[in-house]
Amino acid sequence: MQRSGSRNLQQWFLALAFFFLIIPTTAHALDNGLARTPPMGWNSWNKFACNGLNEKVVRETADTMAANGMKDAGYQYVILDDCWQSPITATSNGRDAEGNIIPDPERFPSGIKALADYIHSKGLKFGIYTDVGTKTCAGRSGSIGHEYQDARQYAAWGVDYLKEDWCNTLPGQSAESSYTLMRDALAAATASTGHPILFSLCEWGSNKPWLWAGPVGNMWRATPDIQDCWSCKRPWGGNGVSEILDQLDPLYSYAGPGHWNDPDMLEVGNGGMTTEEYRTHFSMWALLAAPLLAGNDIANMSADTRSILLNKDVIAIDQDSKGIQGHRVYRSGDKSDDQEVWSKQLADGGRAVILLNRGSAPASITAHWTDLGYPETLQAHLRNLWTHEDLAPTAGSYTAQVPSHGVVMVRIKP
Ligand code: GLA
Repeated sequence: MQRSGSRNLQQWFLALAFFFLIIPTTAHALDNGLARTPPMGWNSWNKFACNGLNEKVVRETADTMAANGMKDAGYQYVILDDCWQSPITATSNGRDAEGNIIPDPERFPSGIKALADYIHSKGLKFGIYTDVGTKTCAGRSGSIGHEYQDARQYAAWGVDYLKEDWCNTLPGQSAESSYTLMRDALAAATASTGHPILFSLCEWGSNKPWLWAGPVGNMWRATPDIQDCWSCKRPWGGNGVSEILDQLDPLYSYAGPGHWNDPDMLEVGNGGMTTEEYRTHFSMWALLAAPLLAGNDIANMSADTRSILLNKDVIAIDQDSKGIQGHRVYRSGDKSDDQEVWSKQLADGGRAVILLNRGSAPASITAHWTDLGYPETLQAHLRNLWTHEDLAPTAGSYTAQVPSHGVVMVRIKP
């Protein structure tokens, strides 16, 4: 017969093992108080890439955002992506004798501090880009070995947002350690200014950041670079909107206030998709609680593009305070040309629901209340978020005709 002491010990071990099995695996969020809802703003890369970036473009973008309703709608960050730094040449490694990063003097003759001040004077916030490795993806100086120095420089310039890329890393370099190092460098640099910097990880989902980046960054790219196409896969890894949707769908439990899955910046208005497809792209990003970073030429956009980016009913879904990433609750098949229903739970107990038609012909799609977690008998109020019409209360389900590659997006209130 076993002595009661060792039985107690056994029970303790079992209880302990059970405890570790059932505690939630979701990582804690980075505690810098930022990104309580998905960040919104504009980033230079999707439209201007390397060669088109300069201070004139950025100033014009900020001017327009402050005046055209975008700022009021919540677009806040104006972000310089790759190529704000001076090029690496035979005689320069892009840093001065003390190792300080040198901004490109031709593209940014007034300097980065002046640009940051200008953006702040417009009531907007300023973001910048770096890379974990030796060089950025476009070949400018990376941050490796300069993390604390660069973070201090960014803080001194008044940077509010840092995106850190994952090109030209050293063999075996750990993503988690590298990004944690920059997180700590940012925290140290901003301790004296009292001004936190939003941290955006951009390692393209290569190391499953959703599993470890919650305490490290405010958002992490979960997917490869977006391409301005409805459905495409580039040999080097770029993906279209359709492919990204399938990649982001299973990750919904990892997102929440302060820490978001990032399916990459918007392509709305860049010309590779139809207006219908851009409306779908924007609607889906909102349902996914994705950061909404416009990636087009804001100063010269069409009325259609503007009306998509400024749809406040859709933006409200993205910015819902509950911070839940929506997901697919129904699909008619398992192919990329099927009809689907996606749902996002909202703070008021309602749902944002998208009927998505990935097929090549118009289709009738039905959202059943039971797929949304509601009883069939519930009488619900519906609002169409693109026509802005309130629909008659209805029970059980909602059916609509959806154009090819289009959505019908409604907000349901029980
Ligand atoms: C990578 C990133 C892009 C962009 C470019 C810049 O491809 O994923 O978002 O920042 O680098 O070179």
